[in-house]
Amino acid sequence: MADHETIETNGPANPPKLDAGKFSDLFPIRDQLHFFDHAGVAPISGPAAEALRRYGEQASTRGYVDSNWQVQVRAVRRGAAQMIGADASEIAFVPNTSSGLCMIAGGLDWVEGDNVVITSVEYPANRYPWEDLRRRGVDLIEVAPEPDGRIFAEQVADAVTNRTRVVSVSHVQYSSGYRIDLRTISDMVHQAGGYLCVDAIQSLGAMPVDVAAMGIDFLSVDGHKWLLAPEGCGILYCRGDLVELVHPPVVGWMCMVDADRYGDYRFELRTDAGRFEPGSYNVPGVLALGASMALLEDVGAEVIWSRIEALTTRLCDGLASKGYRVFSPRGRGERSGIVVFEPPSGGGSCADVVAALRRQDIVIVVREGRLRASPHFYNTQEQIDHLLDALPA
Ligand SMILES: Cc1ncc(COP(=O)(O)O)c(C=O)c1O
Repeated sequence: MADHETIETNGPANPPKLDAGKFSDLFPIRDQLHFFDHAGVAPISGPAAEALRRYGEQASTRGYVDSNWQVQVRAVRRGAAQMIGADASEIAFVPNTSSGLCMIAGGLDWVEGDNVVITSVEYPANRYPWEDLRRRGVDLIEVAPEPDGRIFAEQVADAVTNRTRVVSVSHVQYSSGYRIDLRTISDMVHQAGGYLCVDAIQSLGAMPVDVAAMGIDFLSVDGHKWLLAPEGCGILYCRGDLVELVHPPVVGWMCMVDADRYGDYRFELRTDAGRFEPGSYNVPGVLALGASMALLEDVGAEVIWSRIEALTTRLCDGLASKGYRVFSPRGRGERSGIVVFEPPSGGGSCADVVAALRRQDIVIVVREGRLRASPHFYNTQEQIDHLLDALPA
């Protein structure tokens, strides 16, 4: 596979130069597969794999004795905060995106007649926690997308009422790749006295995310997609001044101030996001997540996003010239790392296309009846061209 791709200058077609050869050790998957499913379960980065190996070595030879795991966990928390422009006190480690969203949905003090606004096409992780609130008299308002997959932020904002406590949306939709304008929504929901909660699993790691600039109050994400980390360890961001408004729905020993004074039994919840961590950390998961985040920070969110923009634009152009229909909205500000497309009529079923590609070690998937490809920054132009060549005409 191509190693030394040198594409330079700015703009979607020409992302910043990246010595892709430098990354072959860091992404050994490139020697095995043309992998384009980072919106599914992504491969972990080389540094994440190395962190797991080091953890295994330490844990199996000396256990926690002489380990610096707790120091590392604190460093990862700081790194995660930095990545989204937050403070470490606003970050909790969670087992997945769902758990983080459930902390918020289950933890706010709902009053009968309150409502939550979502879109009608959310990944179920960002639906059921809110739908479950119907038991507490909370209404769910759903905003449907346009037939072309767009969900105008203004439409979401228009659905906000004076009883809206939360708008909860995916930053990037899993089944269309559509990226929504969060600022417009947050301005509206804040005016109405509510909060913006974001499922960022399809954006964080692929593009810059800044909670303050975007007006995000709560954000949840697992590591297993664009963050190139293992499944089962993610982060929840809770805006500092809102932490004490959210009573953790799962209360455990680590939620407490002075948690390590085990026998004191003083029920006093922490006043930082640590209150959303009921018990022991998934230490290997946190360390691996930290290693991948450090790599992504090192490359730089802007560089990563420029690469992804260029690779996906090249893919979309190539798809169009092969007669495939690109479904993903691709305007500036609405595109993402996800390209959803349909075969030309008579071009075989989506499942057939995926199977034919898999036989050639090319990985894309079917989602909601369409094809979905999601390259990350370390993929190369040559890999995109290989995918295009391999797609049945
Ligand atoms: C938008 C979105 N949210 C959440 C998830 C996964 O949720 P969890 O991390 O809880 O497994 C996915 C997985 O495909 C997703 O696409």
